[in-house]
Amino acid sequence: MQITDLRSDTVTKPTPEMLQAMFAAQVGDDVYEEDPTINALEQKAAAMFGMEAGLFCPSGTMTNQIAIKAHTEPLTEVICDVTAHIYQYEGGGIMFNSAASVALVHGERGKMTPEQVEAHIRPDNIHYPPTRLVALENTCNKGGGAYYTLDEIVAISEVCKRHDIALHLDGARVFNALVASGDDGTSYGNYFDSISICLSKGLGAPVGSVLLGSKAFIKKSRRIRKVLGGGMRQAGYLAAAGLYALENNISRLQEDHRKAKAMEEVLLQADYVERVLPVETNIVIFQLNDRYKDAEFVAALAEQGIRASSFGPQMIRFVTHLDVSDEMQQHVLQVLHSLNKQQVEA
Ligand SMILES: Cc1ncc(COP(=O)(O)O)c(C=O)c1O
Repeated sequence: MQITDLRSDTVTKPTPEMLQAMFAAQVGDDVYEEDPTINALEQKAAAMFGMEAGLFCPSGTMTNQIAIKAHTEPLTEVICDVTAHIYQYEGGGIMFNSAASVALVHGERGKMTPEQVEAHIRPDNIHYPPTRLVALENTCNKGGGAYYTLDEIVAISEVCKRHDIALHLDGARVFNALVASGDDGTSYGNYFDSISICLSKGLGAPVGSVLLGSKAFIKKSRRIRKVLGGGMRQAGYLAAAGLYALENNISRLQEDHRKAKAMEEVLLQADYVERVLPVETNIVIFQLNDRYKDAEFVAALAEQGIRASSFGPQMIRFVTHLDVSDEMQQHVLQVLHSLNKQQVEA
């Protein structure tokens, strides 16, 4: 049976063309900053976001955690949405790596307003940890792929600048946000002090994230990467996949968004669905009514060769990506339709 894996956009395998680019990579020792392919990737990624410099790392968790450590000192505070990956899914790393506390904002689908951010900034008072960093996520994973527009980012950045607080972006899926909004990422460098981008999500590379910022910030971050054991050697073979992804796999994200939207349309008609978070990019999160328990629903999909994630009580997540073919997409739509009660009884 052909398997359609909708658990995440991290499950993609490199294409023959990407593998060819990896084979052909020129490499060197990156701890000595002598890997030409890594240097090229870092420069290209930085230029794409109007930043001075980049740092290639094994994962998005590492780029986020390095950024948080570089921006904070122990006993200071980070502001983020309650659903943020840095808080929910990085193993408590903010506390462990940075000894910082977190002020949680209850935003809308993972997005905070400038007013909410400002309300969480601590006054200068001995009782409170000083606020050092605000972290946004674009797109918002747990928010069902909702994205911030550039205007919304500018407004939050103004609050941060006014209070002299750094602004970080967890941009694991920032390319999905840019493709969906039509915004130009090259101005992001004016608003963010650091950006983490992931190459191994929708862009289809097997490994890698890049942390972006000023030269001074990246110099500090390089030290922290070394401490965390993230200094790699001839990792240009991996960076080559990332370069290939940046050159070839961005505009096609629209295709993933179209597929997610088509799934949303079928789910909105389904008699087993309570609600669907409006689909904006490549993530579809929906809530089941009492016709199925979430585990039963995931099992029913698995019987038809479709893998999906349970995402909280009665919540299911699908993520579309470049390994979901048109044929697989048709199969998914048919199966979603067939799970309606009417169809089951027929
Ligand atoms: C929004 C977001 N940030 C960061 C990460 C972490 O990336 P990695 O799995 O490479 O550590 C993920 C992973 O899924 C993510 O969804």
